Amino acid sequence: MRKLNWAILGPGTIAAEFAAALEQINGEVYAVGSRNLERAREFAAKFKVQNVYGDYDEMIGDENIDIVYIATPHNNHYEYIMKCLAHNKHVLCEKAITVNGAQLEEIVDLARSKNLVVEEAMTIYHMPLYKKLRQLVDEGKIGKIKMIQVNFGSLKEYDVTNRFFSPDLAGGALLDIGTYALSFTRYFMTSQPDEILTTVKKFETGVDEQSGIILNNADDEMAVVSLTMRAKQPKQGIVAGELGYITVTNFPRGDMATITYPDGRVETITAGQTAQALVYEIEDIQNQIANQEKSKTLELSVDVMAIMDEVRNQWGLKYSFE
Ligand SMILES: NC(=O)c1ccc[n+]([C@@H]2O[C@H](COP(=O)([O-])OP(=O)(O)OC[C@H]3O[C@@H](n4cnc5c(N)ncnc54)[C@H](OP(=O)(O)O)[C@@H]3O)[C@@H](O)[C@H]2O)c1
Repeated sequence: MRKLNWAILGPGTIAAEFAAALEQINGEVYAVGSRNLERAREFAAKFKVQNVYGDYDEMIGDENIDIVYIATPHNNHYEYIMKCLAHNKHVLCEKAITVNGAQLEEIVDLARSKNLVVEEAMTIYHMPLYKKLRQLVDEGKIGKIKMIQVNFGSLKEYDVTNRFFSPDLAGGALLDIGTYALSFTRYFMTSQPDEILTTVKKFETGVDEQSGIILNNADDEMAVVSLTMRAKQPKQGIVAGELGYITVTNFPRGDMATITYPDGRVETITAGQTAQALVYEIEDIQNQIANQEKSKTLELSVDVMAIMDEVRNQWGLKYSFE
């Protein structure tokens, strides 16, 4: 299959890291689009970008683009994914892929009907470590899963104009860092939780500052998730089974885990490299397109979005545009 023409929509912080990963794999980036032509030009000058657009819609209309990487704030992912699909482009979209389940459902339906690939750029789903851990869990290495525990704390300087705190840009801890914690949880849970308990403290802007979330499913598995935007916590995920527990530190881009057994023995598992996290996302989606495979992880994104809908429902949190 010929090399895909990638376009980057929204040349911000993560987009720069992504462009470097694309350059590493494909040698170049076909296009970049910004709301401002000068910003797009600056970005293009830093990376090997062939085409520059000062308007997102104009870029999406470029017939030579095969796939678009969307790296704008959460609130407009849905709009741009739908536009890309309408123009027959595959999409890799930053987390959180949408702000709610209804939006994601529409996207899944349209992508299926057009035989296009949509994936969430959720690092956990693409890191080699998680593929290896999944295999070990499936082989019974830690026995039946009983308890999952995930912490994510990020100390963001309080600035109400920043996307992290803005209800207009779907800010708050849940969509920004909770997506990682819940994706980790859902990746290891055998089935979707059917009981959700949660408590929250909100910022004065109305979005969530910190929360605790407890999940239960019909497979007798429980998860406890703790999130905060105003304190560092170790980014740690633990999956405890009847025969041992897995610990992944810096879990969003983890490349090393330990398994601790009841007798105190500790085994180290390594796979992939943290620094290559975005490269794995690109490789996975390119392989999926080349082999015309069904997404293995979009269903997980759908489940995580459903959990986040219920959590926000219990908090009474709606974003300003919902
Ligand atoms: N996977 C990861 O490790 C990771 C890490 C960080 C962030 N993310 C995700 O990536 C996305 C972008 O995050 P980021 O930290 O890169 O954000 P950022 O630095 O603020 O960049 C976002 C870009 O989106 C564009 N944009 C479009 N509409 C906007 C609006 N209304 N307000 C502000 N910017 C707007 C801007 O580009 P123009 O103005 O030039 O058009 C801006 O450069 C988020 O969904 C975030 O959750 C993922």
